[in-house]
Amino acid sequence: MLARPRRNRVSPAVRALVRETSLTPAHLVLPLFLQEGDGAAPIAALPGHARLGIPRLVEAARAAADAGIGAVALFPAIPAALKDRTASASADPAGLLPRAVRALKAALPALPVITDVAMDPYSSDGHDGLVEGGAIANDATLPILARMAVVQAEAGADLVAPSDMMDGRIQAVREALDAAGFPHVGIVSYCAKYASAFYGPFRQALDSAPRARDGIPGDKRTYQMDPANGREALREAALDEAEGADWLMVKPGLPYLDVVRRLREATALPIAAYHVSGEYACLKAAAERGWLDFDQALLESLLAFRRAGADVVFTYGALEAARLLAR
Ligand code: PBG
Repeated sequence: MLARPRRNRVSPAVRALVRETSLTPAHLVLPLFLQEGDGAAPIAALPGHARLGIPRLVEAARAAADAGIGAVALFPAIPAALKDRTASASADPAGLLPRAVRALKAALPALPVITDVAMDPYSSDGHDGLVEGGAIANDATLPILARMAVVQAEAGADLVAPSDMMDGRIQAVREALDAAGFPHVGIVSYCAKYASAFYGPFRQALDSAPRARDGIPGDKRTYQMDPANGREALREAALDEAEGADWLMVKPGLPYLDVVRRLREATALPIAAYHVSGEYACLKAAAERGWLDFDQALLESLLAFRRAGADVVFTYGALEAARLLAR
C-alpha cells in the first residue's frame, strides 16, 4: 500500500497543519430577540435564549463583542396591540427596534448591527408581505420594506437584511437607502430562503406565525422557496446581485448546504448561511436527553457551513461556540 491517507491524521499537530477549513468567532453572527421593558422572557423552544429588554440586549451584545463574535442580528417582539395589516409600527423611528439599535451603537459602536427587514413581526397577519384581495401584494409591499430599512439605517444599522422574499425588494431597499443618504449601509439579502418547518421556535419567540385569512393559507409558500428546488436559488442569487445585494444568504442551514455550495460557486459576493432556530433546538433537545454532545455537535455543524462555502454563519450557538473555540 503506497497511499495511506491516515498519515495526515496521525496527531493533533499534523491534523492542524492540513486542516482545510477554519472556524472563528469572527465568522459568526448572534441573533438576539428584543422586547419592551427592562426584563427578559425566556424562549422555551430556544434554551438559553430570551426576549431581552434593551438594557439586557446591550449586555448580551457586549458579551458577544467581548467573545469576538462578528455581529449581532436583531429581531423585535412587537406587542399584539401595535400589530396591524400594514405593519405600520415598522415605520416608527421611536419604535422598539430603532431604540435598540441606537442603544447598541451608543454602547458598542464597533459591533456591526444587522436588522431584519420584513413585515411579519409587525403584521397582524404574520405574513412578510401585505395581504390584499386574497393575495400577497408583492409590489405594494416594497415601499413598506424600503421605509422600514431607512428607519433602521437612520437608527444606525450597519447592514439591513430583507428576509421577506418579495420580488424586487433588494432594488427597492437599495434605492431608498441611497436616496435617504445611506449609501454605505449594506444589504444582506435572504436570497435563497425556503418555506421551512425549521423556523418553528423563531415564530414562537415572536408570536409571528403566518395566519390564514382572505383565502391566503397560513404558510409562506407563495413567496419563500420550495424545498425541492436548488437551481431556482441561482436565479434568486443573480437577481439579488444585480439589484445591489452585498451578501447573499441561504436559509435554513444544514439541510441546504448544497445550495450554499452552488451559490458559492456562482457568485463572488460573500455568502451567509442561517443555522435556524429549529436546527439549534434539535441539538439542544437531543443533548438534554443525553443523546449527543451539544458542544461537539455545534462546532461540527458550524464547521460544515464553512466547508460548504459560507463566509458568515448566523447561529443561536454563537456565544457557546466562541467560548468553546477560545479553550
Ligand atoms: C421573518 C424571519 C424568519 C426567520 C428570520 N426572519 C421566520 C419566517 O420567515 O417565518 C427565521 C429564523 C429562525 O428560524 O431562526 N421574516
